[in-house]
Amino acid sequence: MVDNQHWLDRWKENRIGFHEPAVNQHLQRYLPQFDLPRGACVFLPLCGKAHDIAWIAAQGYEVIGIELSQLAIEAFFEENELDYERLDTDRFGIYKSGNISLLQGDFFDLSNDDLGACNLVYDRAALIAMERHDRPRYYDHMLSIIPAVSNMMLITLEYDQSEMTGPPFAVPTDEVYQYYSDAFSINLLETNDIIDERPRWRKVGLTALSESVFRLDR
Ligand SMILES: C[S@@+](CC[C@H](N)C(=O)[O-])C[C@H]1O[C@@H](n2cnc3c(N)ncnc32)[C@H](O)[C@@H]1O
Repeated sequence: MVDNQHWLDRWKENRIGFHEPAVNQHLQRYLPQFDLPRGACVFLPLCGKAHDIAWIAAQGYEVIGIELSQLAIEAFFEENELDYERLDTDRFGIYKSGNISLLQGDFFDLSNDDLGACNLVYDRAALIAMERHDRPRYYDHMLSIIPAVSNMMLITLEYDQSEMTGPPFAVPTDEVYQYYSDAFSINLLETNDIIDERPRWRKVGLTALSESVFRLDR
């Protein structure tokens, strides 16, 4: 079972194969196309210590991230040589450094007040970190906390779930449309076959793997 303890243990044991060594290429390609005003706010659910956080902040945007693991958040600031202040509330430890705010706590404890006027959600390896039975709750919660004007960039993976247990979990494109099409107009930007980039997963039995990038507009 992939519960909160699973993720905390992974950070403690440094089993963080999901952490990309550089800024995500789709983010770099597509973020400018959202044409966000300077100072706009980008929300990163389940943010880990992704390089994407610092890169988005460097574009002149406010960043709000939520992450369960204190180890991950403190590693992010240390590795990026950023000083931070930590403030504790009843639900979160709030780490602040310039235009970056990382909330340590559970995504499902977030309310819309915590996100303020966030303009864009950047979901990379967040939805796909959720098991199938947890995803309806994830979609619902996401829609209940983000402002009614907030757009989204979403990256998913698809593969035959019977070939690998996950995480990451396979999220069918149809499912994205099922849960998000009432709230957004959905544009599938690209789908790429990426099995050759994951030889380790091929070894455990995966025969095909595709990655999709979606743009969701209000
Ligand atoms: C697959 S990783 C992706 C991290 C990051 N998005 C990236 O691209 O590197 C999922 C992350 O979500 C965190 N996480 C899992 N469940 C969470 C929850 N309910 N609330 C907040 N963070 C959570 C885990 O600790 C982990 O760092």
